[in-house]
Amino acid sequence: MKNALVTGITGQDGSYLAELLLSKGYNVYGIWRRKANVDYGNISHLKDEINLIYADMTDLSSLISAVKISQPDEVYNLAAQSFVASSWDTPLNTAETDALGVTNILEAIRLVKPDARFYQASTSEMFGLVQEIPQTEKTPFYPRSPYGVAKLYGHWITKNYRESYNIFACSGILFNHESERRGLEFVTRKITNSAVKIKLGLQDCVELGNLDSKRDWGHSEDYVRAMWLMLQQDTPDDFVIATNETRTVREFAETAFRCLDIEIDWQGSGVDEIGVDRATGKTVVKVNKKFFRPAEVDILLGNPEKAEKILGWKRNVNFSQLVERMVKNDLNLLSSRNNKIIKLK
Ligand code: NAP
Ligand code: GDD
Repeated sequence: MKNALVTGITGQDGSYLAELLLSKGYNVYGIWRRKANVDYGNISHLKDEINLIYADMTDLSSLISAVKISQPDEVYNLAAQSFVASSWDTPLNTAETDALGVTNILEAIRLVKPDARFYQASTSEMFGLVQEIPQTEKTPFYPRSPYGVAKLYGHWITKNYRESYNIFACSGILFNHESERRGLEFVTRKITNSAVKIKLGLQDCVELGNLDSKRDWGHSEDYVRAMWLMLQQDTPDDFVIATNETRTVREFAETAFRCLDIEIDWQGSGVDEIGVDRATGKTVVKVNKKFFRPAEVDILLGNPEKAEKILGWKRNVNFSQLVERMVKNDLNLLSSRNNKIIKLK
């Protein structure tokens, strides 16, 4: 039986990856941070099947202990301050976790279990001000946020430990992936959650930032499968994981509202743009400047050809299925919590 150590196990990807590894018969260890109130969150349904170890990416000694305890065959480094907008508010903490934290876990592996295979959660944010469309493993990087810059350090230190110490270390350059477990501040979940609240009469309107921003959105369940596949190869390498389709935030909102039988008409432009419910004439989407970023990543579109060819990876969930799953999940959660029943056409 193989042992796997997952950092960031309480997050969106960590929870889906833990499910995948358990289904494959792994002994799953995860690191988590102590909180004032114990909260299992995304892993509450798994807590009796996994081994949780208190540790922090900024604390090398805790990571050395975690590697000693878990004796991992595979380490998946998913822990990060992952919200791009927050990285301008906490640039140093973001760098300590997302950049130096990667060196900490690599050092723990080098010192305690150098034959462990290592996966680093790299990101399409490293492409930032994109130098070509679509982006591939060969596209030059140009990060546009403290988060993107920190992740670029994590990406290169992973490559460096592969080349310096022969550690089996891979980076997955993953484009945006979402799910029913996505944090509420990310734009997709913010939209699906708000759209459902609007449908249920619990909220009037959702305020968003840049509606023109384009993202390549897939489902987390498909993307954690790619992480595992990378560590099953004969040689370590880096791979882009993406859908090869890009949509605007505006399109995501339209699709989410449509799942709830609400057609949106867009009026005005820039900060004055609004989305109006065609049937009622009510404004359900507004633009608020406070959600704009100091520097934006305008368009992400990834080409996953290398992963499809070498890993045999293919996504199963397309854009409309992703949005529908997220909306239905929020509808179930919010209607039962608020004792409301609605019938969709
Ligand atoms: P997420 O839901 O925000 O999860 C992040 C996890 O990291 C949480 O478990 C969090 O624990 C943990 N964490 C944060 N700081 C930590 C620290 N100092 N020490 C230990 N744990 C810490 O993120 P996700 O969407 O699952 O993403 C997983 C990884 O993939 C991240 O590294 C992210 O940057 C990267 N990535 C994500 C996407 C995407 O679209 N989702 C795309 C590319 C790359 P708490 O519960 O204690 O906060
Ligand atoms: N969060 C948020 N809230 N974003 C908004 C809003 C809003 O109200 N309105 C517009 N947006 C735009 C953002 O400006 C951005 O262009 C886009 O929606 C997506 O924002 P997020 O959902 O916050 O995700 P992200 O693309 O910045 O970052 C995610 O994907 C990266 C991979 O490209 C995160 O998961 C990162 O951890 C990940 O690395």
